[in-house]
Amino acid sequence: MSDPQPSPQSVIAPALDLARVPSHIAIIMDGNGRWAAARGLPRAAGHRAGLEAVRRIIEACREYRVRVLTLYAFSTENWRRPPDEVEALMRLLGEALVDELEDLMEAGVQFRMSGDLDTLEPALRKQVEQVVAVTHDNPNLVLNVAYNYGGRAEIIDAVRRLGRDLASGHIIPQAVDEAVVGRYLYTAGLPDPDLLIRTGGEQRVSNFLLWQIAYTELYFCEVYWPDFDKPHLAAAIAEYQHRRRRFGGIEDA
Ligand code: FPP
Repeated sequence: MSDPQPSPQSVIAPALDLARVPSHIAIIMDGNGRWAAARGLPRAAGHRAGLEAVRRIIEACREYRVRVLTLYAFSTENWRRPPDEVEALMRLLGEALVDELEDLMEAGVQFRMSGDLDTLEPALRKQVEQVVAVTHDNPNLVLNVAYNYGGRAEIIDAVRRLGRDLASGHIIPQAVDEAVVGRYLYTAGLPDPDLLIRTGGEQRVSNFLLWQIAYTELYFCEVYWPDFDKPHLAAAIAEYQHRRRRFGGIEDA
């Protein structure tokens, strides 16, 4: 991991082709801890500043007419962090669900969660379920928060449930294809991400959406997540618009 230096902040927003904005953007929001360390602040302050960046990016995604935004907010591996940091992250989610509901409704944002919700504290889980239910019909943007999420755990969970349905005869082995597997994942019903952004300078996928990113364009940037703003998002989308997506073939349209 690199030293906690201030992350590069100034980027000039490039012009975008608004007809070719990715439908689904997924983000690994990395660098909160280093952002805080560079300022002599506790890690929790970095996560709190990260939530401000989440607000800005939701707004920018609405403006660019992105359909789905998936944010990696807490991984199955994050339980290994110090208990006070885990507690701060859980508290932040709870607070955000209360504080943001009105804005989500006003902005027409549908809230979804991908991850193992069974091990969340019952009160937090209930809060999540309520916000999911209340925002269900909002039409503008799906905000899919990956929480207590791990790509391998998601696949194991899907295999178990699919196995049960095969054993009971609910589905026959010959009928199992990519679309069927997709329906057993936490992201059932959502399109695969077109663009995956990772902030904070690391270049790996860290167990995020392993099945879903088979043909996703990857974009890595140095900026720490709390500094990530609309021009950085625009730069990522502009880079995406320069790529040729071939999906294993020889040329796209
Ligand atoms: C990774 O940075 C970030 C996280 C594990 C948490 C992300 C959470 C938020 C941005 C706020 C909550 C968001 C919602 C939607 C409720 P890191 O801590 O690994 O940073 P480092 O690599 O610099 O240590």
